[in-house]
Amino acid sequence: MTQGTASPEVLRRSHHLSTFAHQGAVYLYHDLYGYLLQMSPDLLAFLDQFESPQKASEVCTRYADAFDGQAPQQFVDIFYQHACLMEPDDDELAGIWPMIAFKGRWNVWRRHGDRVTIWTAWGDRPVKTIELDAAETKMWDAFDGENRLNELRAKHDAKKLSALVQRLAHSDVQAIKLSAFPQSMYAKRPAMAPRYLTSTMPYRAWKPGDPLETPTTDVGTEDYYKDVADADAQFDHQETTLSHLFREPHPALGGKTYGAALVDALATQGRLPAQRVRVLEIGAGLGYVARAVCEALQARGLEVSYTIQEIAPALAAAQRTRTAGLPVEVREGDALAAELPSDAFDLIIANEMVGDLPAEQHSRTDVGMEVDGSGEVDEAKLAALGRAGELVKDLGIPLFDAPEPFYLMTGALELVVRIARWLAPDGTAVVTEFGERSTWPKLSTHLDHPELSTHFGHLLQAATAKGLTGSIEFVMDVLEMDRTLEGLATTRSHFRALRAMCADAGVDLPKLGYTRELLAARLGDKLAMDQIGELRWDKIEDRLMGLVPHEFKALLVRKPGGN
Ligand SMILES: C[S@@+](CC[C@H](N)C(=O)[O-])C[C@H]1O[C@@H](n2cnc3c(N)ncnc32)[C@H](O)[C@@H]1O
Repeated sequence: MTQGTASPEVLRRSHHLSTFAHQGAVYLYHDLYGYLLQMSPDLLAFLDQFESPQKASEVCTRYADAFDGQAPQQFVDIFYQHACLMEPDDDELAGIWPMIAFKGRWNVWRRHGDRVTIWTAWGDRPVKTIELDAAETKMWDAFDGENRLNELRAKHDAKKLSALVQRLAHSDVQAIKLSAFPQSMYAKRPAMAPRYLTSTMPYRAWKPGDPLETPTTDVGTEDYYKDVADADAQFDHQETTLSHLFREPHPALGGKTYGAALVDALATQGRLPAQRVRVLEIGAGLGYVARAVCEALQARGLEVSYTIQEIAPALAAAQRTRTAGLPVEVREGDALAAELPSDAFDLIIANEMVGDLPAEQHSRTDVGMEVDGSGEVDEAKLAALGRAGELVKDLGIPLFDAPEPFYLMTGALELVVRIARWLAPDGTAVVTEFGERSTWPKLSTHLDHPELSTHFGHLLQAATAKGLTGSIEFVMDVLEMDRTLEGLATTRSHFRALRAMCADAGVDLPKLGYTRELLAARLGDKLAMDQIGELRWDKIEDRLMGLVPHEFKALLVRKPGGN
């Protein structure tokens, strides 16, 4: 924020604003400073009134009743503080000089000699490169979050510096942000650092008048998966699973793959039969887990028959290719409608797929409870919910602590009921997903389709109601993962840009859970790690690529009744 709060009488809109939208939310990005403001379409329409200089008081009078009783003047002040509104004769570009340039988060760059090239790939926007010449590279190196542009102007060509700031701060690039205060001030007070300094804008450009997507609350992606066209792109760009990051032997798993580590864990826990093992995998993605599990079971001398139940034809095809030569049968169709024999599988795996199953959103009042958290479920109202109500009743799912509104994972509960039927006596099922033991499902909308976190307590309750015994574990613990190793942290946009940069140097960079050693091995002699950036390393348990591994849990259940 650059200016005081009392805004002048006549104002005009900045010429450096871009607007974006995602899932019904609208954002304003200041292309000179990097300010990022969440908006609503009516606020943007209000701001657009200042396209040419206007008396703020007159615009405010016209909009007096537009904002649910909020005074329009307060929005004028906020826009003024963020340099979105200014006095008509203000030289906008001059406003940058008292500011300090911070390097943005999730930049991708490569240094070659005295030059730097920056790669960007925000959201679905095309990959773009920004070549800095030697003088601009010196300026880039001077953007240290401490020196004001005024000071840098004394050492560098002012016109060139101004042009570079404009190029790099723009929402197309987002390589720098401008701040009124130095980084050192925030070092000890990180909570005081304004959010825009570390935020990025990966969403689609949108302008007032364009149609606005309505936020999705409807979860259940049968159609989404049926429509998956490019199987590999699905996992490499759209959506990554933990198992996908560990599909190759990994140091954090003692040199094993995810599938092999899972088999070792099941063996250690005495969950594998002695001679013959019948496996069912539900929703098998690209088939890496299937291949690794099948091979690891065979390596233990077991006779394996492996069935996959898969809804997406493109993924089923990938699974067949990946498991060619192994005793794997891929059945196509919805697991929630599949006819599979009862008591027929010694091991059932549903890895990171229950979050994709249908869920229903309800209000506490739908079932007779008070919104404020009190009251009891009204049986008649519960019954009126149909199948969802039946599942709650039959499985004994407690609703008293449901938030308002709440998601009921009907698909996942339905699947657990089916798993209980399909398991052979003494058989084990492993259901993994991101979620918590007792936190109600939360919707995440950062993917291109909405996904819910899983309430594992509900899954365990369903399993127990159907006669299984079991527990909820951290996936990392089940696999005996070395949580403390450091891995590469990325976002979707950052990894896309990094991958483009690597491709430019002749390096193929598949999406894997990179440690420093794994990445160095990939880069070989084509790219030196210290010449590329930004590479952020985090403890694997906290972040690996775009995932937070400690969020992944496993429901491990067994059907009693074996000998
Ligand atoms: C997020 S992916 C996980 C894939 C794989 N298990 C892994 O660990 O990478 C979800 C998988 O479940 C499949 N799937 C989603 N809904 C399904 C359903 N109702 N029946 C069968 N498969 C389904 C998807 O097509 C996809 O293969």
